[in-house]
Amino acid sequence: MTKLGAAVIGAGNMGKMHARIYKELYQAELIAVADINEERARELATAMGGVDYYKDYTEMLKDERIEVISVTTPDHLHEEPVTACLEAGRHVLVEKPLATSLEACDRMLAAEKKAGKILMVNFNHRWAPPYAATKNQLRQGKQGRPVMAYARKNDTIWVPTGMCPWLQHSSSADFLSSHDIDLVRWFFELEVKSVYACGVKRVLKGMGYDTYDAIQALVRFDGDAIATFESAWIYPDTYPTLTDSFIELVMERGVIHIDRQREMVDAVDNEKHYYPKSNLSCEIEGRLQGAFKYCIEHFLHCAETGAMPMTSAADARKTAEVVAAIHRSLETGQVVELPLR
Ligand SMILES: NC(=O)c1ccc[n+]([C@@H]2O[C@H](COP(=O)([O-])OP(=O)(O)OC[C@H]3O[C@@H](n4cnc5c(N)ncnc54)[C@H](O)[C@@H]3O)[C@@H](O)[C@H]2O)c1
Repeated sequence: MTKLGAAVIGAGNMGKMHARIYKELYQAELIAVADINEERARELATAMGGVDYYKDYTEMLKDERIEVISVTTPDHLHEEPVTACLEAGRHVLVEKPLATSLEACDRMLAAEKKAGKILMVNFNHRWAPPYAATKNQLRQGKQGRPVMAYARKNDTIWVPTGMCPWLQHSSSADFLSSHDIDLVRWFFELEVKSVYACGVKRVLKGMGYDTYDAIQALVRFDGDAIATFESAWIYPDTYPTLTDSFIELVMERGVIHIDRQREMVDAVDNEKHYYPKSNLSCEIEGRLQGAFKYCIEHFLHCAETGAMPMTSAADARKTAEVVAAIHRSLETGQVVELPLR
């Protein structure tokens, strides 16, 4: 089997995950990692068995063995490395959301087209078994057309204050609801035509982070369906899991509930009560399995064959447009119609 030479830009939480998966996959060879924080890049390179590491990713792009690159920089810093990698003729898997502005999405799409390379977005939840099983049920068509969705994705306050303080340059709609918007668009096979959103800025603002505590968006799809997307990232850190996630789909002749709050495991020890997660990634016999890995395998398959990724940049732009409409509605207090002008 030929192995695709792989690299990662951004050696943080997600970069570590991408690097480890490339390292473990039979169809890839991890060549290098890059991070503006050189110490972080060096630590990850060492943990990956001594691959090359760079402070400046443009230096890394001179290595012609590298064919595929994951960009795992913060939400608002995807565009520059993505565009540089495409211009250097590499296939790119960028973390979700594609970008925090539609203009940046469009520039990346133009770079993808010009380069003739793959640009895929890591909306990995589509590969998580509970969501994939839901899509399979819907494909059978027994439940009829979509009527309503409710999607909640909430985090503990450590996420925007400790794990990723840069999240004040993003929003809970970008970071959290983008996953749910992507999923509900995929489930319903409908596009959003209008958005009305409300938000509260109080707790995080009081701590010096200029971002919403919580956002609630009511959307109408074409095809006469509605949905509510909720995101709040101020749960106390004592909550038994970092992320609380729930989706309800009401169809003409059926209902589906997808509860990923617990993922079926409820654990207690002398210090805490918690719900270990397993859908996105779970180590089995020393190798990471789960949605993260399956999504990266799909990316490698697309890079190898030229197939269109299931979560293409063009598709992810539609999710980014809904998030942009949420932000516009938050600013104006008005219902916002799509496509945005
Ligand atoms: N798919 C998922 O389930 C999922 C889950 C969490 C986060 N994410 C996404 O992953 C991305 C990264 O999140 P994270 O938690 O890993 O953030 P992080 O802060 O842990 O890591 C980001 C890294 O990028 C580096 N960086 C910034 N600019 C750079 C540049 N120009 N060149 C090289 N390195 C640069 C930073 O120094 C940092 O080490 C975000 O877009 C986030 O929304 C996805």
